[in-house]
Amino acid sequence: MKDETQKQTQKNFAFNDENEKKFRETLNMYPTNMAALLPTLWLAMDQNGYLTDEILEYVAGRLELSPVHVYAVAEFYTMFLRNPPGRYHLQLCRNLSCTLCGSEEILAHLADRFDILPGETTEDGIFSLELVECLGSCGTAPVMRVNDRYCENLTLAKVDKIIEGC
Ligand code: FES
Repeated sequence: MKDETQKQTQKNFAFNDENEKKFRETLNMYPTNMAALLPTLWLAMDQNGYLTDEILEYVAGRLELSPVHVYAVAEFYTMFLRNPPGRYHLQLCRNLSCTLCGSEEILAHLADRFDILPGETTEDGIFSLELVECLGSCGTAPVMRVNDRYCENLTLAKVDKIIEGC
C-alpha cells in the first residue's frame, strides 16, 4: 500500500510553488534549456530527496530535452541520488589523495560497522554509504560528506565520533 502511494506521488511529481518560482528564475539565468539541466535536477532532488525515473521524465518535459539525455546526466554525477538515501547519507571520497591518506581503511571500517556495502542503506534506514569522486578538498584528505556537512582529516576514531553524533 505504501509502495502504491509512493509510486502515485512520484507519478504526480511537479515542482511546488516555491520551486516552480526558482525553476523559472533558473531558466532566465541560462542561455539554453540544456544549460539549465543541472540546477533543475538539483531543484527536483531538493524537493523529493532523490531522483526517480518519473522525476527525470518530468524534468526532461519541463526543459524540452530528451529523457535519455536527462537520464544519462543524472546517472553520470554521483551527487544525484537515484534511490532514497538514509537519514544520514555518507559520501566517502575514493579519489587519489583520499585513497593515499586512508579512505580504503575508512570504507572497510564503515562497511564493517554498518554491515553494508557502498550503494546500500542500513536496514533501519538511518545510514547509507556511497563512494564518490573527488569532493574538492584534497588538502584535508581523507574526506567524507555527511549529508551537506564536510568531515575532513578523517581518522577511524574521528569517523566513530561523527557516527555517534548522528
Ligand atoms: S581526492 Fe578526496 S577530496 Fe580530493
